Amino acid sequence: MMTLLGHIGFIALYCVLCLVMPTLLRGEFTLAYVREHSLFICVCTQDLVACSVINSSECDCVDHPLSTPQQQAHGPSTVQYKRLTVWYTSPLNVARLLNNSDVRHLVLVKCDPTEDKLPPLDHFVVRRLERLSVSYPFWRPGQIHDVVLGRDMGAQYHEEARIAVIHTTVLVGKAGLKAYTVKTEVDSKGTMSFPNVFMSPEGLPEMASMFVTFVY
Ligand SMILES: *[C@@H]1O[C@H](CO)[C@@H](O)[C@H](O)[C@H]1NC(C)=O
Ligand SMILES: *[C@@H]1O[C@H](CO)[C@@H](O)[C@H](O)[C@H]1NC(C)=O
Repeated sequence: MMTLLGHIGFIALYCVLCLVMPTLLRGEFTLAYVREHSLFICVCTQDLVACSVINSSECDCVDHPLSTPQQQAHGPSTVQYKRLTVWYTSPLNVARLLNNSDVRHLVLVKCDPTEDKLPPLDHFVVRRLERLSVSYPFWRPGQIHDVVLGRDMGAQYHEEARIAVIHTTVLVGKAGLKAYTVKTEVDSKGTMSFPNVFMSPEGLPEMASMFVTFVY
């Protein structure tokens, strides 16, 4: 009898979850639309067709005008999201916006078919990144690169300190994406054993050991 009641209880709980889960999964997400002279940061309530016109009944957007391409919209670490989707036509502005940001799950969608020149900066750093998806629907429709970072080195728990060094060619367009992880020390000035990689020292302890994943 007890087991039967237990089963019924389990089924009841399961059904409550059935009702709740889809709304959780469909929850709000943040979308950044990055162009050469403008940046919109939107909170959207439902999934959208990539690169579509943003409908004000689905998303609540704030406009951050970028008067010149050189202007940096955000200082270090103001960009902080669990999940961020970025639609863009300016790879350089995306690299600037996301450099030293803190994002767990990043989705990058290039919204134009043109082949850009490589931006003058060759990489940007995203802290705590666990998962990256990249697609170029106008260049390679239907193809999505999905990378779980650090899995190759056993960094499978999100508590583990990690950063991603993403080469800007990834923003411009790549037929294949590769990722390579190493474990290294970073000091409080942001210096690590890779002389060409700089990260903002903000919030870094005296010396930290972290997983660094290069995506290229
Ligand atoms: C915006 O979305 C709403 C609800 O999804 C829809 O009724 C409306 O037609 C859309 N407007 C435009 C301009 O697409
Ligand atoms: C990223 O930030 C580092 C250090 O804060 C800086 O040296 C580098 O030029 C920045 N890169 C980009 C793409 O903005």
